[in-house]
Amino acid sequence: MSGASAVDAAISSRRSVRGFLPRAVPRATLEEILSVSARAPSGTNMQPWRVYVLCGGAKQKLIDALLHAFDHEADSHRDEHNYYPEPFFEPYQGRRRKVGLDLYSLVGVARGDMAARRAQHRKNYSFFGAPVGLIFTMHRNLKVGSWLDYGMFLQNIMIAARARGLDTCPQAAFGQFHKVIREELSFSEDERVICGMSLGFEDKEASENFLQTERVPVSEFAVFLDDRTQ
Ligand SMILES: Cc1cc2nc3c(=O)[nH]c(=O)nc-3n(C[C@H](O)[C@H](O)[C@H](O)COP(=O)(O)O)c2cc1C
Repeated sequence: MSGASAVDAAISSRRSVRGFLPRAVPRATLEEILSVSARAPSGTNMQPWRVYVLCGGAKQKLIDALLHAFDHEADSHRDEHNYYPEPFFEPYQGRRRKVGLDLYSLVGVARGDMAARRAQHRKNYSFFGAPVGLIFTMHRNLKVGSWLDYGMFLQNIMIAARARGLDTCPQAAFGQFHKVIREELSFSEDERVICGMSLGFEDKEASENFLQTERVPVSEFAVFLDDRTQ
């Protein structure tokens, strides 16, 4: 495979996987993925990322605390930042609705069945059964540029995972329970939860993983101002 094909294959085969096998991922593989991902660029090389890598009992302890909060006190937990616009608007609202409905229909959630939707959403907090849970934080005084840098780091992790036969799901859902996460992982108020990520081997039989998301074509989002003749 040429260099471009290998990179394109890793990028194109990345999807959000929401059902994993219990198969463990070696610590050395995780360190390798994080090491190569930290080659991401960042403004003035600030490297704003900090990541908690949770496996085994440590992961389970966080899951237990999150599920307890989700089941018993969800209304008293709020995101610290808005990931999504309020109110939502087109064309983003339509795209969001489509991916939600496609996922729910794959897993057999009937339209309007809010309890079943909630049960599906709840799976976020057990990292969809993945053997590795990642929690990403950043110093809260950092600015919008560092969020941009962070996205590049996250994408590198997802692509480096793919190159090793692993899959991921980036998860904003953890943001709602930042207080629970801070308490469980004992980090200071200076650190802000950016998002989480599940990482492991895909369960190819999980219906969630049959989801295929669409993208608008290049002609719809790119404006070429190119007056070359050839
Ligand atoms: C930063 C970020 C946060 C996300 N949060 C969640 C989440 O909390 N739960 C979830 O199931 N998917 C989450 N997703 C996955 C998106 O729904 C998914 O990327 C999108 O629908 C495109 O599908 P694909 O990743 O399979 O290409 C998130 C994606 C990103 C980039």
